[in-house]
Amino acid sequence: MADGATGAAIQVRPQPSGFGAEVTGLDLSKPLDAGTLAQVKDAWARHAVLAFPDQPLTLDELEAFTLQIGPFGDDPYVAPMAGHPNVLEVRREPDEKTTPFGGNWHSDWSFQERPPAATILRSEIVPPVGGDTLYADGAAAYDALPDEMKARLAPLRAVHSATRAYGPKSGYARELEVRSMPIIVSPDADKTWAHPLVRTHPVSGRKALFISPVYTVGIEGMTPDEADPLLRDLYAHMTQERFVYRHVWKAGMLVMWDNRCTMHNALGGYDGHRRVMHRTTVAGEVPV
Ligand code: SIN
Repeated sequence: MADGATGAAIQVRPQPSGFGAEVTGLDLSKPLDAGTLAQVKDAWARHAVLAFPDQPLTLDELEAFTLQIGPFGDDPYVAPMAGHPNVLEVRREPDEKTTPFGGNWHSDWSFQERPPAATILRSEIVPPVGGDTLYADGAAAYDALPDEMKARLAPLRAVHSATRAYGPKSGYARELEVRSMPIIVSPDADKTWAHPLVRTHPVSGRKALFISPVYTVGIEGMTPDEADPLLRDLYAHMTQERFVYRHVWKAGMLVMWDNRCTMHNALGGYDGHRRVMHRTTVAGEVPV
């Protein structure tokens, strides 16, 4: 395609599993014309996880691309990069032994009143082994539920909190000294916010499970004895292989995912190697 051409023909190749897609034929370091941006947004609404290979963006370019998708989200609990208040560096050093940052299923910042619609992650240093990211398709998982379960879930509101990750008694709180990332632990993380357990995507109109083992701490009106087994069953359902896309990174790759209908999980398996990624978020809406 010619740079700047209106609605240039980008290639959107669905991943073999049918969830997620690879997008080529465009240069994200330059502003996208309106037609191309519309194609990207359309592909994102249809595929939820878009991988753009060969996009070695500078931090300024990463910020500029993010702002074409929407305004920046609010990123708490990790100090941003110097001079780039909206970019987080996801870093793990060769000698770190802890679970990778984001190393359990979650949807980013779902404990916020308006959780981010998108997260954009660009690989800077990729280890020679491991370091893949798993994505689970909350919409397909919802579609596959029996009608009785859909009816049971329809009125439920899940309670989200950052407490397990960033609260004073969290796993990160115990590991601050041995992590290279500037994680911020705060009593603020113990606050809770409820969202529909099944939310409707504002663009595609599809319903999706909106829960995660990291940030969902209960269900309104249910005791833990009632809520926990239901949540466990839903996590087991949603993370079956048939709903999961495993992303294998190469350096200079950009992935944009939709937090409204997916969970993700950063895998390890690269002890002894450095992994560095740069991450932004795009503001979202109140889930309905
Ligand atoms: C994250 O949860 O944002 C980190 C994902 C990754 O590093 O693969």
